[in-house]
Amino acid sequence: MSGLRIELEGVTARHPAASANMRAAIDQLSLTISPGEHVAVIGPSGAGKTTLLQLLGAALKPSHGRVLMDRDPVWSLSTRNLQRQRGQLFYAPQSPPLPPRQRVIVSLLAAKLPELSLWGSIRNLIYPQHVDEVAQALSQFDLKEKLWERVDRLSGGERQRVGLARALLAPAKLWLVDEPLSALDPTRARQAIATLVREARARQVTLVTSLHQVNVATTEFPRVLGLRDGRLVFDLPGPEVTQERLSELYAQFEYELAQVETPHALHEVPPVKREIRVGCA
Ligand SMILES: Nc1ncnc2c1ncn2[C@@H]1O[C@H](COP(=O)(O)OP(=O)(O)OP(=O)(O)O)[C@@H](O)[C@H]1O
Ligand SMILES: [Mg+2]
Repeated sequence: MSGLRIELEGVTARHPAASANMRAAIDQLSLTISPGEHVAVIGPSGAGKTTLLQLLGAALKPSHGRVLMDRDPVWSLSTRNLQRQRGQLFYAPQSPPLPPRQRVIVSLLAAKLPELSLWGSIRNLIYPQHVDEVAQALSQFDLKEKLWERVDRLSGGERQRVGLARALLAPAKLWLVDEPLSALDPTRARQAIATLVREARARQVTLVTSLHQVNVATTEFPRVLGLRDGRLVFDLPGPEVTQERLSELYAQFEYELAQVETPHALHEVPPVKREIRVGCA
């Protein structure tokens, strides 16, 4: 499976619930993301990162401009074809909405639904199939022992990693991952992003992720988008995102930059031996 190509052409977007006098959440944005590309989106809180991911995932309709997936303008597609396109996407929201009391295994298997028949889906709920595949995905995020655990008995960080492990089971060509590291301690965060990037590369899927950890974005992603007030401030290879660029992007929000850790290369990360709980979701 190869990645999805995605384009925004002069896209402006407002959230339906936003008051009329609010500025657009995304303002006249044009962008092309090639199949298999890995892109990080950074910028201060409220910059429009989540909104951008929603636009790329055809979850929010722009008020102006076009969104194209593999050159098809998604909002001109028939309902059936739009559903088909959405079936090629995997979207991991900032806080994965995992139903309480659900087992981890069932939650992961839900990611496979686009490729399962109705009978296959029902059977999976009653007698979970693909156990080895799910265990393998969980082990990539150091969660193998949580296979049969209930999701409401996991820590916030574990839940977030379960949300990421779902990507490995999804039959998707585009992974959209919103703030995958927000509930993780720095070591876990770097391991999780390394896994995500490695697995996306192995599957040749297109990966777009929003991040508050600018060091992770600039060291691990070949392309970094700097977003502020719904506009693109820069679109650069990670190593070219200088301190000056970051200062410009985060001007008046420097405290958000100050909260992030100092840079470490991922290969320096030692294997983690113990779970660090960061609070319950
Ligand atoms: N559901 C919504 N209804 C109305 N306005 C919204 C909604 N979601 C976001 N907005 C507004 O759209 C703008 C962009 O928000 P968005 O969530 O995309 O920012 P963000 O960069 O993801 O921020 P954060 O880093 O805090 O997650 C903000 O001004 C926000 O208030
Ligand atoms: Mg957000």
